[in-house]
Amino acid sequence: MSHLYKCLGSINGCVFEGGLDVIEVSWDEAIRRKYPEPVVLVVSCDREGKPNVMPAGWCMVTSGRPPMLAVSIGHGRYTHKLIEETGEFVIVFPNEEMKEMVEYTGSCSGRDVDKFKAFGIETLKAKRVKPPLIKDAVACFECKVRGRLVTGDHTIFAGEVVASHISEKYRYRLYNFGNNLFKTIPG
Ligand SMILES: Cc1cc2nc3c(=O)[nH]c(=O)nc-3n(C[C@H](O)[C@H](O)[C@H](O)COP(=O)(O)O)c2cc1C
Repeated sequence: MSHLYKCLGSINGCVFEGGLDVIEVSWDEAIRRKYPEPVVLVVSCDREGKPNVMPAGWCMVTSGRPPMLAVSIGHGRYTHKLIEETGEFVIVFPNEEMKEMVEYTGSCSGRDVDKFKAFGIETLKAKRVKPPLIKDAVACFECKVRGRLVTGDHTIFAGEVVASHISEKYRYRLYNFGNNLFKTIPG
């Protein structure tokens, strides 16, 4: 059931009626307007150091000093179990050529498949955490968990960034435009 509101608008202090129409819709319909959304890859590993990776759209900067990044991970994800176990993860900004990697790593679970082997993902050793960096990523951030917050069916893991890296070759990160369209801005 949709509702149409007539709102009061204001230009240069003059109030007028109409012009700004707002329609109430479902959450599902409204949240589709979030696109384009930046996408990251979250790299984690098990206690033996075997890595896993999944894409995430729900990631944000939460502090400047110290630098911190937070990512929201569904309770059922293998990544969730690994971050709970080790307290470490790496946030990766994928480059323009990593669209298939994003799609593949988001389509299966590390519980069932070694995604790094299956997709041939090349890694580099991180400096201060166990999960590896991804080669040719636009940027990689090594994170240690400093806080967690259960929010509905996800947990927000807040990680302090203990080392940051950028590519000299790739500058623009990948965005999700919805409907399986991933591209960079600009480009
Ligand atoms: C573009 C994209 C964005 C996603 N964003 C999130 C997210 O923010 N949080 C989340 O828990 N899952 C997200 N997912 C789903 C997981 O990546 C997916 O369930 C993945 O297979 C989980 O892998 P894992 O079980 O190996 O951890 C996203 C998937 C895609 C393709």
